[in-house]
Amino acid sequence: MGKPRETVMARVLEVRAENPRVKTVYLDFAAKAAPGQFVMAWIPGEGEKPFSVSFCGGARIGLTVAAIGPFSRKLQELKPGGVLGIRGPFGKGFKLKEGKAAVVGGGCGSAPLGFLVEELRRAGSEVVFVNGAKTKSELLFAARANAAGARVIVCTDDGSEGRKGFATDALAELLESEKIDCVYTCGPEVMMKKVAGLCAQNCVDCQASLERFMKCGFGVCGQCAVDGMLVCRDGPVFPLSRLARLREFGSARRDACGSVDA
Ligand SMILES: Cc1cc2nc3c(=O)[nH]c(=O)nc-3n(C[C@H](O)[C@H](O)[C@H](O)COP(=O)(O)OP(=O)(O)OC[C@H]3O[C@@H](n4cnc5c(N)ncnc54)[C@H](O)[C@@H]3O)c2cc1C
Ligand code: FES
Repeated sequence: MGKPRETVMARVLEVRAENPRVKTVYLDFAAKAAPGQFVMAWIPGEGEKPFSVSFCGGARIGLTVAAIGPFSRKLQELKPGGVLGIRGPFGKGFKLKEGKAAVVGGGCGSAPLGFLVEELRRAGSEVVFVNGAKTKSELLFAARANAAGARVIVCTDDGSEGRKGFATDALAELLESEKIDCVYTCGPEVMMKKVAGLCAQNCVDCQASLERFMKCGFGVCGQCAVDGMLVCRDGPVFPLSRLARLREFGSARRDACGSVDA
C-alpha cells in the first residue's frame, strides 16, 4: 500500500458487468476505505478522475463505473492483468449511525451504496434500500443489498421493475410510516436535494454524497470548491446541517475551467 497521495499502479483482477451500462473493476490494491470515500483513477494518456470505492477488503478494491464519456469507457475496457493508477482513498465517507437506516440511490449514484449497506448491516443496523433508476436495466446493487439483509424497495421511472415512480416518493412514504434514524443518499443532485428536504421536514438525520469536478482530490487545487468548502476534503459526504448551508447544492456546479454552470 502506497502513501495516499502517491499513484500506485494497481493490477486489474476482474471486471464484472453489473448492468448493461455499468461494470465493476476489481483491483489488487490494499486500502482501508469507508463507504463514500473515493480514489483518483489514472489511465496514462487519458487523465485522472475520481471514483467511489464500491468494494473494499482482502487487499482488493472495486470501482463501479458507468459508461458516460471517453474516460469511463476506457476504464470499462480494462482487462484482467491490465493496470490502473490509483491515488487515495480520499475524502470523508458516510458516518454510520446507530438505528434504522434508509439508503436512497438513484441510477449509477448507487455505486458506493452496496458497500454502505453491507457496512451498516455489519454494524447491526436495520436497513431499507430505496433503489431508484429510470428503467429496470439501470438498477444497481438491489440484489447485493438484498443479500446483505436489507429490505429493498425498487422504483423505476417507467414502472419496468418494482413500483413506478421516483425513489423520493417511496422515501416520503417510508418517512411517514416508519421511524428512520438516518437517511444516506447518492445520485442525481436534484434527487438528493429532494431527499434532504424530506429529511429536514421530518426531522430525520441525512447524509448526501456530492460530485464536483476534481483534479487533485485532496484539497490543494480548489477545483471542487462549493460555498467555501472543498468537496474532495470536507466531503464528498456532507451531513444535513452542512447541506442546508450550501447554496450551490441542487442548483449549480463548476466545470473543468472552474466556471459555474447554474
Ligand atoms: C467523488 C466522486 C465520486 C465519483 N464516483 C463515481 C463512481 O463510483 N462511478 C462512476 O461511474 N462515476 C463516478 N464519478 C464520476 C466520474 O469521476 C466521471 O466524472 C465520469 O466517469 C465521467 O467521466 P468521462 O470522462 O467518462 O465523461 P466526460 O464526458 O468527460 O464527463 C461527463 C461529466 O462527468 C463530470 N466529470 C468529468 N471529469 C470529472 C472530474 N475530473 N471530476 C469530477 N467530475 C468530472 C462532468 O460533470 C462532466 O460533464 C464520481 C465523481 C466524483 C466527484
Ligand atoms: S479537487 Fe483539488 S481541492 Fe478538491
